[in-house]
Amino acid sequence: MSENLIISQSSDKVSRYESLIPQIEALVAGEPDLVANLANVSAALKQTFDFFWVGFYLVKHDELILGPFQGPIACTRIQLGKGVCGTAWQRGETIIVEDVDEFPGHIACNFKSRSEIVVPSFKNGKVFLVLDIDSEQLNYFDKTDQVWLEKLMTILCSGI
Ligand code: SME
Repeated sequence: MSENLIISQSSDKVSRYESLIPQIEALVAGEPDLVANLANVSAALKQTFDFFWVGFYLVKHDELILGPFQGPIACTRIQLGKGVCGTAWQRGETIIVEDVDEFPGHIACNFKSRSEIVVPSFKNGKVFLVLDIDSEQLNYFDKTDQVWLEKLMTILCSGI
């Protein structure tokens, strides 16, 4: 893929995902290094949606450790079952949080974050990576984001 991301000008999130996903597919197809791909995918998501914070946490030695991201600095380590990320890791499923203040144990890396989605990815049947996205808008994320972001994670991790 060229270095220029094409961003749908539609305000409709489906159109934006439809434009983004094939570009992500092309982007990661030619690059076997996971960290390089995580870095570019977080940048592509930030460019496309202007999310407040978007990035990855990797499972290392029984905790989540901060990986490539775009946005303000964030907490570096999260334990299993803690916060939204640690809970998504423990459950092995995507979690959508409409209002972070209503999520027991939510880890507030930045007070501007109002809603959140965390999507896990699996290797040998175990979660090894989570995608975390924060929005400044309450109730931003829905089933549409879940479906497209799960697809994105499958593409991202297909070569691993
Ligand atoms: N809010 C997350 C922590 C990570 S930051 O949002 C970047 C959580 O509760 O797990």
